[in-house]
Amino acid sequence: MQVFQTVAELQRHLLNISQLGKKIAGFIPTMGALHEGHLSLIRTSKVKSDITVCSIFVNPTQFNDKKDFEKYPIQIDKDLEMLLEAHCDVVFVPTVEEIYPKGTLERTTVELGFIGKTLDGEHRPGHFEGVLQVVKRLLDIVQPDLLFLGQKDYQQCMVLSKLVEHYQLPVKVEICDTLREKDGLAMSSRNARLNPEERAVSAKLSQALFYIRDHIKEQPVPELIEQQLKLLSAEELIQVEYLTIVNGKTLEPVDLYQENTSLTALIAAKVGQVRLIDNVIIH
Ligand code: PAJ
Repeated sequence: MQVFQTVAELQRHLLNISQLGKKIAGFIPTMGALHEGHLSLIRTSKVKSDITVCSIFVNPTQFNDKKDFEKYPIQIDKDLEMLLEAHCDVVFVPTVEEIYPKGTLERTTVELGFIGKTLDGEHRPGHFEGVLQVVKRLLDIVQPDLLFLGQKDYQQCMVLSKLVEHYQLPVKVEICDTLREKDGLAMSSRNARLNPEERAVSAKLSQALFYIRDHIKEQPVPELIEQQLKLLSAEELIQVEYLTIVNGKTLEPVDLYQENTSLTALIAAKVGQVRLIDNVIIH
């Protein structure tokens, strides 16, 4: 496994590899504090690509909450060990200056429309603009054939698919399943910040989503949401930002169950001070 900190060194290495013959490059952008969810993307890339490149960069421009950025867990040595064990080929660990040599102000020209305004777009103003900005820069640097993303960040997958479409980038987006802890909690770097009490109740988020998925045909949608919101609000440590069922392609809210429409249930909630998101595709 080779680790690079500068764009020039990384690109020199990738060019050397590609000169040895056509190779499929798979790319997994991350913000580090790696867990099994991230590693599942690495493993999928190892199967589908000849070269697997992972980046670790805590992107300051996608944090609308300064405290969230400051408290974002950092464990670079452990991350590198995990990537080595997963047989990742190349790791890119740039500095902020390397990613944003001209400063952090320049954004992409992607018009997200409704998918950028709703859910996390509404609750985390500027977040997706920062995600678009950093992933565009990373894709320009790495120029992969395949981009591996986790369904855990459902709206982010839609936003980044839009980025690829907007710039007609020659990269295929591969969306991978969400990895969960035994009690159903979606794996997340932020889970490391939960204290034992918060960790214990945090499984209620995915339980609400699973309940909705399993009972959507039996109860009217608004009633189902109301019932699950009530259960969650009974937990002192949980503050729900949204719990909703949407059209899985447009993110428009859905009030009436329809068999032929793709439906996704999404949740965002603070457990203590830690903001968690999760989703389940209903069909
Ligand atoms: P990060 O939260 O580190 O996630 C990196 C990738 O891992 C994302 O594609 C995310 O969806 C995926 N992932 C996270 N938890 C997962 C889980 N439990 N199961 C499967 N995949 C999971 O998402 C980001 O970083 C950033 O926004 C980034 C795209 C790197 C841009 O800065």
